[in-house]
Amino acid sequence: MVTRSRVLSAGSYLPARIVTNDELAKTLDTSDEWIRQRTGIRQRHIAAEGELTSDLALAAANQALANAGLKGADIDCIILGTCTPDHTFPATATKLQHRLGAKGFAMDVQAVCSGFVFALATADNFIRLGQVKRALVIGAETFSRILDWTDRNTCVLFGDGAGAVILEAGEGKGDKFDQGILSTHLFSDGAHYERLYVDGGPSATQTTGHVKMDGREVFRHAVVNLAAAIDVALHANHIGADEVDWLVPHQANRRIIDSMGHRLKLTEDRAVITVDRHANTSAASIPLALAEAVNDGRIQRGHLVLMEAMGGGFTWGSALVRW
Ligand code: ACO
Repeated sequence: MVTRSRVLSAGSYLPARIVTNDELAKTLDTSDEWIRQRTGIRQRHIAAEGELTSDLALAAANQALANAGLKGADIDCIILGTCTPDHTFPATATKLQHRLGAKGFAMDVQAVCSGFVFALATADNFIRLGQVKRALVIGAETFSRILDWTDRNTCVLFGDGAGAVILEAGEGKGDKFDQGILSTHLFSDGAHYERLYVDGGPSATQTTGHVKMDGREVFRHAVVNLAAAIDVALHANHIGADEVDWLVPHQANRRIIDSMGHRLKLTEDRAVITVDRHANTSAASIPLALAEAVNDGRIQRGHLVLMEAMGGGFTWGSALVRW
């Protein structure tokens, strides 16, 4: 027998304010047509003034806890994927731990758009080692706070939000039919540090800074790296592409998602798509999409779910989960 991290539930939260492409086009040299054609994005949610990453994360966590019939005190580990923490330190996860009344320990993981996959892998490893029984894994971002709203190359692409899942230790036989996380695969290559980065930080500038991106190069690497991350997950579990029930990809660009769907020979309705309504919410995008598809009944117990993401660093990775 082996220990597996089973996914008990998912929850999410989106700020109330919706900003459409047309609204952006009022102050920026862009258009709804350009944004939709290049990215598939129609709108994004933007956090209200004073609404912090911890507030978004708390709302998503509370929904995930309610869906699992659990309380904060039942959680002994919180891992939060975010690159927009409330403060430079402490970890935003510790604030959540206090607000939820959770036990054990809490920490942030920083892998930008791959943050949720990195957080999930971290929690999974603690659970499989027997050090944690129940983990709350969250991706939450107020990405709007690090955007230059006069830079059309970047600001049209992102949004705010949060998603969460609860993992619990369970037993499996060690094969692909086990319920829970079958494997996770993490990668990074710092040679591309400056292709997608924020031009501020405590050590470098003592400011927060704004997102800078070489969009074409990010796109080119995303297609190659995500394909490799998918292949390694399938290979590690002796699973054929046709066995995957759902692709839950990082939601950056519809064209990248479609290209991964083709690779898996999935029909369009087997990839969970939220990029049109949420835009790119960085670490929050996968758990937001997961929560939508789990809570509306598309993803069901026994389904095989493949997640993949890539972000600044570059970081990238995948996770294969039997729901
Ligand atoms: N509105 C109108 N025109 C624009 C806009 C805009 N918002 N942004 C750029 N343009 C212009 C450019 O200035 C350029 O004009 P020029 O030809 O006169 O110089 C023209 O549109 C074409 O620009 P490209 O960069 O070649 O456009 P491209 O087809 O590559 O699409 C995009 C740009 C959407 C950013 C694409 O490269 C992309 O999606 N890259 C991936 C980036 C990404 O997803 N980043 C998220 C983080 S990483 C991740 O999550 C995977």
